[in-house]
Amino acid sequence: MCGIVGAVAQRNVVPILMEGLRRLEYRGYDSAGVAIIDRNHCLARTRSVGKVRDLEARLDAQMDGVTGIAHTRWATHGRPATENAHPHVCRKTVALVHNGIIENHEALRKEQLKLGYEFTSETDTEVVVHEIYRRLEETGDLLAAVRAALPALRGAYALGVITNHEPNRLVAARRGSPLVIGIGIGEHFIASDVAALLPVTQRFVFLEEGDIADITRDAVTIYNAQGERVERPVKQSELSSDAVARGEYRHYMLKEIYEQPRAIADTLENRIGLHHVYDEAFGHGAPAIFESVEAVQIVACGTSYHAGLIGKYWLEGLAGIPCSVEVASEFRYRKPQVARHTLFVTLSQSGETADTLAALAHAQELGFAHTLSICNVPESSLVRGSQLTLMTQAGPEIGVASTKAFTTQLVALLLLVAVLGRRRGLGSDGEARIVGLLRTLPGLVEQVLALDADVQAWVPFFANKQHALFLGRGTQYPVAMEGALKLKEISYIHAEAYPAGELKHGPLALVDADMPVVAVAPNNELLEKLQSNLQEVRARGGELFVFADADNGIREETQTHVIVVPPTNDLLAPIIYTVLLQLLAYHVAVSKGADIDQPRNLAKSVTVE
Ligand code: G6P
Repeated sequence: MCGIVGAVAQRNVVPILMEGLRRLEYRGYDSAGVAIIDRNHCLARTRSVGKVRDLEARLDAQMDGVTGIAHTRWATHGRPATENAHPHVCRKTVALVHNGIIENHEALRKEQLKLGYEFTSETDTEVVVHEIYRRLEETGDLLAAVRAALPALRGAYALGVITNHEPNRLVAARRGSPLVIGIGIGEHFIASDVAALLPVTQRFVFLEEGDIADITRDAVTIYNAQGERVERPVKQSELSSDAVARGEYRHYMLKEIYEQPRAIADTLENRIGLHHVYDEAFGHGAPAIFESVEAVQIVACGTSYHAGLIGKYWLEGLAGIPCSVEVASEFRYRKPQVARHTLFVTLSQSGETADTLAALAHAQELGFAHTLSICNVPESSLVRGSQLTLMTQAGPEIGVASTKAFTTQLVALLLLVAVLGRRRGLGSDGEARIVGLLRTLPGLVEQVLALDADVQAWVPFFANKQHALFLGRGTQYPVAMEGALKLKEISYIHAEAYPAGELKHGPLALVDADMPVVAVAPNNELLEKLQSNLQEVRARGGELFVFADADNGIREETQTHVIVVPPTNDLLAPIIYTVLLQLLAYHVAVSKGADIDQPRNLAKSVTVE
């Protein structure tokens, strides 16, 4: 977590760093800081608790320098406090920003205390700046100092380091946390992601694991983990600077909910023919791999995990292929039995989630036959580490609560169902049916978005409640889980999801007039059973909020509120109903005055364990 940005230029870099921080704020927002080497070759630093706008308010308008680094933090070691905010500085000489976790910081701290270094923070990061300073004293050269210091560190890092001894130099390094270099004309930049630098460049170099970069205004020189000089390709980003702008929307989350028809259409573009899905969409060698696959293991975190749970229903029910799904933080420490010819699938918006990356590495050690990543960020670590990839084309997702990334992951999973199912009894008719339905999806999502005002009308029933229950059956159970997660993460209302059939085994005891119960009830073969479950709630004085097809027989009456959803094929229902639950969570959170795009204690991209 945390976002870092840095620059070496001829112009004042402070505005570039501040704009970069604003764009990186989704990665962490409990404190922020900036350090530059000023025109007198002195290190100047400003830090602040809170968001980037709080830092901005404290910034000296005169702050001016051609080399600088900045950081927005999501606390891991050390509470959110000014002294724990980055950049960290050693003896007014070296300043450093860090994203990651240094696992052996306690041992290093003890050693450095003995050597007389003074600690001013509770962070794991401070040992790194002291270690580099120590080596700088020995070598007199920043690159050599960073290189000498890194072997002492255990853990994950993306680093940006400057010193007033070499005022036009920035040294960057990465291991386990993302870092890109932005290539300008007579100026260069670093950042945790591409979007942070789009206002200044569209040309990027993606550092590999273990790389160290020596960056000046005129040159970028990269050394690999073995210390050899290497060339890394310069890539042109297709993102425009305003791809990450909020436009007329009040929040990124709302913008991203409304972008779903476009995001889904883009995810389908060039991936489907008239009646079938192109195997090649999954990358080089995909057809041969798909021929051999006999089982699927899906691993992911958070919202992406919920997409995986829905994928299991589809892969087993439609493609006839055994499928297991697990959260990455559990999988990475387990010793599972690996069935022959199992395709290991990771789902991730960012492609940088530490647990998912570790799970992929674990899977490779365990000997899974093949790996596929379904991801939204090209060039992310997950994409680069996987054999096959299918990119969701959601575009940058800034709101911490994931929306369009989730629905495009579901679309990607349906494409996977088609290519695997075609080889296992789904038949070309089955595949053509999926393709035909997918084509209608962007239009259906548009229709569902038109129900926004109806969803808003429910807000007063939720805004003052402490708890809510979400019910679904079949593929709608993970949809209910996702709805509950959305509500709790942005409105801070405790919400739980249950498969409706489990209600009588416990949660029914909680049901009363203060516990709104939300049900997602498309017209499928489980509808009758779900209706009985809903009666169980009503009989106990519970108030029901049902999203349902017109012809499913659930009527608006006392204690039962119904929003009628346009008729949807069961296959697409998880996507359609999720959009409504996203809107519900959004409007409830807005009415509570919550921080929609940056909910407390969370971050978008969890790059630490
Ligand atoms: C964080 C985000 C969630 C996201 C999860 C997994 O918790 O707040 O929105 O679903 O990480 O992230 P990934 O990028 O791997 O999908």
